[in-house]
Amino acid sequence: MGMVTIPQEALPDGGPPSPEQAHRWCQQLEEGNILFFPKTPIALPDEDVRFLLTLEQTSSGLHKNLAYKPAIDRVSGADVKGADSAASERLHRILRDYSQNVTEFLKNFLMPYQSRWQLDYGSFRPQEEQGRDLPLRRRNDLMHTDAFPTRPTHGARILRFFNNLHPTKTRDWITGEPFRALVPQFAPQQIALPREQSTLTRWTAKAACGMGLGRAIPELKRSPYDDFMMRLHNFLKENEDYQAQGKREAWFLPPGSSWMVYTDMVPHAVLAGQYALEQTYLVAPEAMVAPEHSPLGVLQALTGKKLV
Ligand code: SIN
Ligand code: FE
Repeated sequence: MGMVTIPQEALPDGGPPSPEQAHRWCQQLEEGNILFFPKTPIALPDEDVRFLLTLEQTSSGLHKNLAYKPAIDRVSGADVKGADSAASERLHRILRDYSQNVTEFLKNFLMPYQSRWQLDYGSFRPQEEQGRDLPLRRRNDLMHTDAFPTRPTHGARILRFFNNLHPTKTRDWITGEPFRALVPQFAPQQIALPREQSTLTRWTAKAACGMGLGRAIPELKRSPYDDFMMRLHNFLKENEDYQAQGKREAWFLPPGSSWMVYTDMVPHAVLAGQYALEQTYLVAPEAMVAPEHSPLGVLQALTGKKLV
């Protein structure tokens, strides 16, 4: 486990990699490695990067990441100073281009997946991560696996692609042992293994969705798998023993680089760094080349139960 470096020479000019090579990359990701590109394969015009680095947000937007929602082609959290509409439009265009370029790149690079993913949010992360003042469960400097409170995945994998845009500073991550080592170590005694939804919960969920309330009550849409993943996220952030001990690896991700990782299985934290772009994918469980490594595969093997 660790990091797999993809040198520029491994990426044929514009063309797809060989099927064997692409399969190997999917396998390495699914085993819990970070795939690291010392020089980003994503085209990012210098003037766009300069624009992002000098973007001034108003104080109300100051502590937020800016989210880009590809499905509706909207930027949210963007409160650009002076509400200059040209600046807002430019920001929107840059985030849209980034999302499309990463997606286009991954279509070939992760060919075995055949784009069987749902494009989730993208983001621009303009704040210095070191010393950010956030509520505990939203802190990214504490080790955690990712799970989204309002967007249960029903077994789909959370794959994230990042670019460090900072002109000089590395983005500093630590990672820990992946899911299949972590869960048996920490989870069974302390987090009840995934419960089956009670008949009452299922009935309430059905009724709520029927009344159009499903979106308002996300926990009702969670499968037992999502329920576990959410509790694991919270448990890890809240557990001082886990935060203080355990094997850690440190990564100093340099300016101009890209990396991607399954953040639902690799515990991670960002300790420092500023100005990153990111795009998230929810990859269909059926697309996995090594489903036994996936959190769903591991949990179902541990419990002997179907969890989605
Ligand atoms: C996270 O997913 O915890 C944040 C990673 C980052 O912003 O570098
Ligand atoms: Fe995270």
